[in-house]
Amino acid sequence: MLIKRRPGWELPESQATPEHIAMNRRAFLGGSAGLIAGSTLPQIAAAQGADPTLDLYPAKRNASYTLDRPVTDEELAANYNNFYEFGMSKDVVSAAKKLPTRPWNIAIDGMVEKPFEIGFDDLVRKMPLEERLYRFRCVESWAMAVPWTGFPLKALVALAQPLSSAKYVKFETFLNPRVASGQTQRWYPWPYTEGLTMAEANNDLTLMVTGIYGKPLPNQHGAPVRLITPWKYGFKSVKSIARISFVAERPKTFWEALQSSEYGFWANVNPEVPHPRWSQASEQVLGSRERRPTLLFNGYGEQVAAMYKGLEGERLYV
Ligand code: MTE
Repeated sequence: MLIKRRPGWELPESQATPEHIAMNRRAFLGGSAGLIAGSTLPQIAAAQGADPTLDLYPAKRNASYTLDRPVTDEELAANYNNFYEFGMSKDVVSAAKKLPTRPWNIAIDGMVEKPFEIGFDDLVRKMPLEERLYRFRCVESWAMAVPWTGFPLKALVALAQPLSSAKYVKFETFLNPRVASGQTQRWYPWPYTEGLTMAEANNDLTLMVTGIYGKPLPNQHGAPVRLITPWKYGFKSVKSIARISFVAERPKTFWEALQSSEYGFWANVNPEVPHPRWSQASEQVLGSRERRPTLLFNGYGEQVAAMYKGLEGERLYV
């Protein structure tokens, strides 16, 4: 039998400082000019293997976004994911850990004043981070309620300086079949692609999400940055974004390219428009036995319905 002898310097786990206290202490040291030879707090954190944006969390909650149901249990949300790059099951936590999320560059290109690439850690420090409680409705008819941390996409649009000829924003996930085994399956139209109109991108609700439950996003939720549009089905909320392009034509999205009879560009939540294979009238609340009636635009109609005036001929709810 292997017997491990503990060297004098090694602390048992029970005596180690809990992570959140250690990180707050580090934040304190950072603030007190006690930095080692010109290193910054994120550099020290990165050198120690911690997320270099940890000091930004938890961000202040924006109290204007409230829920009609309890927040979903964190463990549950973190273990019931859709991330096809890492497999088709809901259990992708360990496979998704293989994705290196640093360094992480995001290309901003297409119809902009000047295309550029920006490191995620630089970008996030230029943006106004806040926490918001949002309902989240998957097209598969389950639902959760989540505290996301992020910044309004419109702040990034302003930074990108799109030309007036840009009509849509296209988002692409990374492409790396060496770490994402799902991407070796060639019948899928990788990389995962999504799109919004400029009006949708500039809507107050549209969030670029960098954190969840007061911490940086774990990989399975789409680290380091993903989209959230709470009035649309969850498949619009593309994870691990590596490229944002401003374009004139409506982008062909991942699910639309795969099965356009079932999934479209708009994907606005509507209880009265069934998926071809199941009803969308109600939703299973994750972590409870409760089925709730689904709400038009997932309950966010006041903020978004006006964007769809005059588009009644479109497949707005698929
Ligand atoms: N983004 C990428 N890159 N790959 C995916 O497979 N799945 C989508 C969306 N974003 C997906 C994605 C779907 S179908 C849903 S419901 C949500 O992510 C799930 O987000 P969650 O796992 O954080 O709950």
